[in-house]
Order: sequence, then C-alpha cells, then structure tokens
Amino acid sequence: MSTEDMKKRAAEAALEYIEDNAVLGVGTGSTVSYFIDALARIKHRLDGVVSSSEATTRQLKACKIPVLDLNAAGPLPLYVDGADEVNRQLQLIKGGGGALTREKIIAAASELFVCIADETKQVDVLGAFPLPVEVIPMARSHVGRELLKRGGQPVLRENVVTDNGNLIIDVYNLQILEPAKLEAELNNIAGIVTVGLFALRPADVLLLGTEQGVQEIKGKDC
Ligand code: A5P
Repeated sequence: MSTEDMKKRAAEAALEYIEDNAVLGVGTGSTVSYFIDALARIKHRLDGVVSSSEATTRQLKACKIPVLDLNAAGPLPLYVDGADEVNRQLQLIKGGGGALTREKIIAAASELFVCIADETKQVDVLGAFPLPVEVIPMARSHVGRELLKRGGQPVLRENVVTDNGNLIIDVYNLQILEPAKLEAELNNIAGIVTVGLFALRPADVLLLGTEQGVQEIKGKDC
C-alpha cells in the first residue's frame, strides 16, 4: 500500500468525529486535501468550516463548502489537521506547508484536535524533520543567530512568503527531547511569530493510517 493510500485512510476515518450541523476547523496539506474531498460528500451536514490557509480555502470553496471566519465562529468543537512528525505523546512538528500560524491558532481555539497522518510520520523523538519557524522579515538574521546558539542549523525557506506576509526558517539538527520546553523557549525569541512545535497544545487523537488499517491513538487527557 502506498503512503498516499495510508493518508487517505486516516483522512476518511476522521469523518466519524463530525456531528450534524457542526462547524469545524480544517488544517492544511496533502492529508487534509483527502479529508476535504471526503468532507465534500457530507457537506449538507455541516454549518461551515474555519480554514487554516489560503490553499485550504481554495479547495473548500471549489467543493462549495462554506468557509467561516474564526472570530464569527467562536470556539470550535473539532479541528482536523495533518502533521510532519508525531511522537508517542501526540506532540507534533507542523509547518512543512508553511501554514503553521493559522494552524496553531485554530488548534488553540478547538476543543478536540484530531491529527490525521500516515504511519511514516510516527517517531520516537521529534526533530529529524526540520522544525519550521515563522518569522517577521526584519527579524530574520536575529532569529537565525538565536537558533544557532541553541544548536540548530537555520535555513531560510527560499521564495516563500506565508499567508501572513512573513518568512519561514527551517531548523535542522535538532533532537527535541523536551518539546514543550523548547516550544516555550523559542516562543520567547523576539521576531518569531510561531514555532512549528505543537507540544504545549498537542493533538488529542491520532488517526494513523497503516498497511493494516487505521489506528486510533488517544492522548492522555482523552
Ligand atoms: C502545513 O503547514 C503542515 O502543518 C501540514 O499539516 C503538514 O506539513 C502535513 O502535511 P502533509 O499531510 O502534506 O504531509
């Protein structure tokens, strides 16, 4: 079975979490793209969705799924999104698609965060995937120096401007043994808008697409 098939399986399984007349948050990426395709089949049951990126909004609109503003929608019962890496505590690295800031806002505003991923994303220690960090343009060099001091190898993502008009630095060579601590520390560097570590607010449920089927893994508070 291909990785794409495993992503699709995980995405389809997330439909089980959707209640009638719900408003939910929708993430960004190739796994989420399969989720939106599945969502289109049950759109008559939805009041609308809050989107985490311009790319997701385009796909939702093409499927004629109503897109709502988070401020108008209020707290959300459910957020469904993918990940670049997920550990056993359901802490994540996200932002491979550059949408980490809006993703983190929607995750924070949601009661339940369901992560959908194929089995290649599961790791024991986060950090083999370079950690994305969204940065205000004038702070690029300062943030790069601060990341170097912490043992990371910062690389500016070429020709990328985020939906918020900022830059992305990908940080290589981090072995993230204490994800929540590192997230809090990096959050304090002036000029960093968002760190692609989702450890202070991890996923609540992981739907992991595997060769054998979909594993449902619940976080400690679920
Ligand atoms: C988008 O910015 C990311 O956080 C994605 O959720 C993450 O990169 C997973 O993407 P794929 O589903 O394409 O692997």
